[in-house]
Amino acid sequence: MTFFNKERKLLLAIESSCDETSVAVIEDGAKILSNIVASQVKSHKRFGGVVPEVASRHHVEEITLCIEDALVEAGVEPSDLSGVGVTYGPGLVGALLIGISAAKAFAWAHDLPLIPVNHMAGHIYAAHFVKPLQFPLMALLVSGGHTELVYMKETGSFEIIGETRDDAAGEAYDKVGRVLGLTYPSGKEIDELAHLGQDTYHFPRAMIKEDNYDFSFSGLKSSFINTVHNAEQRDEELIVNDLAASFQASVIDVLVDKTIRACKEYPVKQLVMAGGVAANMGLRDRLGKEVTEKLPGVRFIVPPLRLCGDNAAMIGAAAFVEAEKGHFADYHLNAEPGLSFMTI
Ligand code: KG4
Ligand code: ZN
Repeated sequence: MTFFNKERKLLLAIESSCDETSVAVIEDGAKILSNIVASQVKSHKRFGGVVPEVASRHHVEEITLCIEDALVEAGVEPSDLSGVGVTYGPGLVGALLIGISAAKAFAWAHDLPLIPVNHMAGHIYAAHFVKPLQFPLMALLVSGGHTELVYMKETGSFEIIGETRDDAAGEAYDKVGRVLGLTYPSGKEIDELAHLGQDTYHFPRAMIKEDNYDFSFSGLKSSFINTVHNAEQRDEELIVNDLAASFQASVIDVLVDKTIRACKEYPVKQLVMAGGVAANMGLRDRLGKEVTEKLPGVRFIVPPLRLCGDNAAMIGAAAFVEAEKGHFADYHLNAEPGLSFMTI
């Protein structure tokens, strides 16, 4: 039994959990008809991070325009749609509430069901646009707010087997970038600098030997900051490319080592890497190579760069799965800023 009873299986999807307002129209959970992303990154740059109140104001300004653009670009009328998927957590409460309110208004006006979507599930389902997901699978989720290994026994089921105990990987990139005087978010720039340098500073590989799948990046961040401050005090010259390469080597070593180990322990058919940090070229190359060498039979899937960062297409793909499972929300749906996979 499927809930889709119109000629085409079309969903509108809305994402506003952080600093991108995004609306997409998705067909069959796997085809992107439109994916409008209004990024606010320029407004947050001068603050060195996302300012929640500024984010909310931008979402209010952009959301209806994005909905209109997504429908026009997809060539779809509201009456063609079967439902509205929306991110309800995790994220910034004010930012989430704007997407949720817009989704409720649209759903009510056009008599459509509301489909609540976990933002992190969305990141994983971004990989579905590359290749149909096969289960069981392992997902390495690496973003500005999260770093976790998620085991999916079947579609729509999520078990966190390991996660960061302090900073997320993207957060560490952004904090280290700030020390180097780079603009926020600095992950992409550090990645580029790292490719021009060598791992000469040998930062620690936190928790790499521990018998668990957890991560920690705050020690690496402190070590990096101390190295920079000590050099400044002694008036020693720092080689920025080598600093970037050394930092990145430490992050990649730990992420890759634990991910490969997890895929050996769990009976997975696929490994998905997702989230903003999945755009990291060093990480994509290294994990891809190690999967080929060490995990015969496991397929490695990484979404294209434009689907690694926050976007509504991925929310539409995850909403499709939820809708097929009959998971809908009523108009009491509220933002859950700290939503984890356990409550889904
Ligand atoms: O998933 P995302 O767009 O937003 C969150 O939900 O957090 O991830 C944003 C994070 C930022 O911390 C940014 O610095 C990082 O992804 N990022 C990168 C790269 N591109 C973006 N980190 C490392 N290498 C990159 N190429
Ligand atoms: Zn995200």
